[in-house]
Amino acid sequence: MKWNISWKIPVCAVVMGWVFMLMLPAQTSLAQNQAAIAAGEQIFQSSCFACHGIGEAQRVGPDLAGVHERRSQEWLEQFILSPQTMFDQGDEIAVALFGEFNGMVMPDSAVSDQQIGQLLAYIESRSLAVASAVDANSGAAEPAAVIAAAPASPEDVSSGADLFQGRLRFENSGPACNACHDVQNDAITGGGALAVELTSAYSRMGGAGLTAILANTPFPAMQTAYGEKPLVEEEVALLVAFFQSAAEQSNQQQKNYAFNLFISGALGAGFLFGLIPFIWRNRRVGSVNQSIYDRQRLS
Ligand code: HEC
Ligand code: HEC
Repeated sequence: MKWNISWKIPVCAVVMGWVFMLMLPAQTSLAQNQAAIAAGEQIFQSSCFACHGIGEAQRVGPDLAGVHERRSQEWLEQFILSPQTMFDQGDEIAVALFGEFNGMVMPDSAVSDQQIGQLLAYIESRSLAVASAVDANSGAAEPAAVIAAAPASPEDVSSGADLFQGRLRFENSGPACNACHDVQNDAITGGGALAVELTSAYSRMGGAGLTAILANTPFPAMQTAYGEKPLVEEEVALLVAFFQSAAEQSNQQQKNYAFNLFISGALGAGFLFGLIPFIWRNRRVGSVNQSIYDRQRLS
């Protein structure tokens, strides 16, 4: 009997050792995957979240739930690295998306290949979590939250303009926006040309999109400027009110411009048509021969 037990123990140990060794790679790859997802989540929060939800309300860009099923891995890698390049190369999907999102081009990201892998791992795992949550609710997905813009007062608009050009200082003393941006507006006296012109920002991104971009900016240059000096909620609201009014004013001006151009053209033409007969009112009307003939007949 004794012999029997002492024979079983080493055999069990060897078998268990084997099983453990077989499971080890699976465990480490699982752990690695978890780490990738966690790293991806961090990058997503700081660089993508302002514009993209995953199974939430649509923000400035499309919701990314299930995007790993809609698009190929290769396409996603190229697109995330440089949407602008894909667009310039005339990639059909990129061009169609660009049109759908009001000509807003997603900024190129300064992410490494490894980080893109992590981002995609996170997007995939988050999509799966969202999809199973929807299943559990028997398909009753939450309706996309619509953030209604509170009506802005003229004071809000002018405070927003003052914040934009540094007449009012930000509470956390971040730099004024016009250090880098310009807006074509009566209230603004010329701004920087380092970054895009923002006159139509509100038309392109809407109030909710702008709020997200300003509250948690995805642009590296702005992260450097405001990372440690974030805008407070009220400042964001005032700036958005200003952008809304600037976009409306520029639409209005364009319309007025076209109308005024038509009216002044019509008046100008009418004036010229009146002026020509006036200048040449003494011109000879009949033929030259006629006057000679008349003179001859008289004599
Ligand atoms: C400033 C806003 C903005 C930021 C920041 C941004 N995106 Fe986008 N994204 C867009 C817009 C807008 C589109 C639609 C395509 C277009 O107009 O360029 C888009 C499209 C996409 C698409 C294609 C979606 C589809 O349906 O095929 C993917 C994938 C994507 N973004 C991933 C990312 C990731 C990952 C990040 C972070 C590294 C990121 N985006 C950051 C605005 C943004
Ligand atoms: C240090 C320079 C800098 C400052 C200061 C700055 N921005 Fe930006 N901003 C950028 C850059 C760079 C981009 C990325 C787009 C680009 O390449 O022009 C950007 C993008 C944006 C966009 C998205 C534009 C689009 O159409 O894609 C908005 C909106 C914006 N900024 C608003 C603001 C506001 C509001 C302020 C003031 C609170 C501000 N920015 C301050 C540099 C700056």
